[in-house]
Amino acid sequence: MTAKRGMDSASRLPTNTYLWPLKRYTEMYRRSLDEPEAFWAEQARKLDWFKTWDRVLEWRLPYARWFVGGKLNVSFQCVDRHATTWRKSKVAIYWEGEPGDTRVLSYSTLFREVNHFASVLKRLGIGKGDKIALYLPMIPELPIFMLACGRIGAVYTVIFSGFSPQAIADRVNDTQAKVIITADGGYRRGKTVKLKELTDEAVKLCPSVEKVVVIKRTGEAVPWTKGRDIWLSSLLDEPHEPVAPEPVEATHPLYILYTSGTTGKPKGIIHSTGGYLVYNHSTYQWVFNAREESVFWCTADVGWVTGHSSIVYGPLSHGAAIVIYEGAADYPTLDRWWNIIEKYGVTILYTSPTAIRMFMRSGEEWLKKHDLSSLELLGSVGEPINPEVWQWYYKNVGREMCPVVDTWWQTETGGIMISPAPGIEPIPLKPGSATLPLPGVDAAVVDASGKELPPCHTGYLVIKRPWPGLLLDIYGNPERYREAYWSRFPGVYYTGDFAMRDEDGYFWVLGRADEVLKVAGHRLGTAEIESAVISHPAVAEVAATSRPDAVKGQAIVLFITLKEGNSPSDALRKDIIKHVRQTIGPVATPSKVYFVQSLPKTRSGKIMRRVLKAVASGESIGDITSLDDETSVAEAKRAYQSLKKTQGGV
Ligand code: WTA
Repeated sequence: MTAKRGMDSASRLPTNTYLWPLKRYTEMYRRSLDEPEAFWAEQARKLDWFKTWDRVLEWRLPYARWFVGGKLNVSFQCVDRHATTWRKSKVAIYWEGEPGDTRVLSYSTLFREVNHFASVLKRLGIGKGDKIALYLPMIPELPIFMLACGRIGAVYTVIFSGFSPQAIADRVNDTQAKVIITADGGYRRGKTVKLKELTDEAVKLCPSVEKVVVIKRTGEAVPWTKGRDIWLSSLLDEPHEPVAPEPVEATHPLYILYTSGTTGKPKGIIHSTGGYLVYNHSTYQWVFNAREESVFWCTADVGWVTGHSSIVYGPLSHGAAIVIYEGAADYPTLDRWWNIIEKYGVTILYTSPTAIRMFMRSGEEWLKKHDLSSLELLGSVGEPINPEVWQWYYKNVGREMCPVVDTWWQTETGGIMISPAPGIEPIPLKPGSATLPLPGVDAAVVDASGKELPPCHTGYLVIKRPWPGLLLDIYGNPERYREAYWSRFPGVYYTGDFAMRDEDGYFWVLGRADEVLKVAGHRLGTAEIESAVISHPAVAEVAATSRPDAVKGQAIVLFITLKEGNSPSDALRKDIIKHVRQTIGPVATPSKVYFVQSLPKTRSGKIMRRVLKAVASGESIGDITSLDDETSVAEAKRAYQSLKKTQGGV
């Protein structure tokens, strides 16, 4: 840490400047790097273990195995542990459906339900190590099934309920799941999403699936395949007994979560039980500074990693009260969230810059209708937060009284890595910076050769040693694991992000350095989008790129050449957009489609994406040539000009 006293920027800081220098944080951070094993063992002891580990860390590059020999159970940590104390009558989940229906689950109710669902899984023949897929709306049954899987050691994958049949099938086929758990439908902006129909479409492509369990949510009629489909309610009606939590090895996989990378195929990120839980238990406390009476609301969808770590495992392992809301933020009106905060007395709000930008656009009057005085802390995750958006959030949502924790992390990191940690010690905040690495996180900014850069230089963000939340592997693809994270800079973990570290040691994460987009905080690989587009019969070649978007951060732009016999038209453009929505899902809806005669390529035939990105963003070619040293300036200019001509300027 290079934190210094009395830096100039301190005068611009909104809170807590008087606490500098950071004594507690600095000591803890130093110790976490000097004596990592002792440090993490201390953290791990805060959980209940059926058997203590033999070794804290086995590190054989690129695989880290934490708490080897230790045995624990995730549902025991998140439920039983609380259901046997006074917390049994404490609220675990305040749930609100989009139509306005509500459910409140205490820890003892959650305990009963997790047991009940675990018995259902067992009756379906699911046991330790078996894979199941969860394709569900944001209803309480989703976290209950996640915990029920953990109870018996089954490995689940949550498939985001906004995904379409092809995306579901890709994930199910990769895991070879035998059972899919879905619902008749879910609510979105007053309409229903027909999840069962989408599941049926997907299952046609999934030979491994034997059973489809259906939860009744909307009550609409659904197609039914006899012998394969089962209502959850009929399974729950059968006699059942409590299910003892299965002690699993700390290194036993808890779940697989698919995320986009730089190829067309999503990566199945495998997280462990022990290391992952220890990491999320610790970081939840450090970052959110939660108290027993806190009401924690993470607005993410459970389909993304934030929903796993920050809705389920971090908070519930602490016995926290959480809020889960099923639907859209602007339904029926733009004050739905503020209404929820007031209604449940939310104290910690954790959301995305995209959501904040949407509210910022719609004006403050929606906020003013509600009493938000319960809020004590605000969080942001998923994409860089622009300083003006940060300020708006701080001022209008937080009444200039709540610290804003800008948390940087990834699906692969399992938990928050760089963030203010008021639970350790409040620090001066800088809008737009995720601030300092959490204890145990040895973060650095390096140049293309892997050399650490001096302050205020932009480079690649890397993590120089393993931490307990690090993914175990990529499911079924260890070569890709090595290649994606450990080969760009040998021996250190490559994040794929650009970052800058300032003179105070604060990190500024600037965005992706690879071909991964963040659209409304959702991670999408350009290659994945391209492979969806190319499956349209009229498309010959495609390049997907992005342009800045005032609300979503980035918006998808496609450059397409057509097969002979097809000509550009508005109808074709709409059809291609529809095709992408049907293949991946509405999250991948392209915002612009350009038909071009040819795509700019290097002599070796590589599509010059940076040229396309500059064109899509309306930037000048001068800004981009230096970025791509494989590309000659003349070549780039020529491509840029011809592209500009074909599409009549962007
Ligand atoms: C980006 C989400 C800037 C980053 C938890 C990262 C951020 C990717 C931040 C991971 C932040 C996430 N500031 N950028 N606070 N948080 N990112 O896997 O590019 O969906 O690599 O995990 O989101 O996205 P993922």
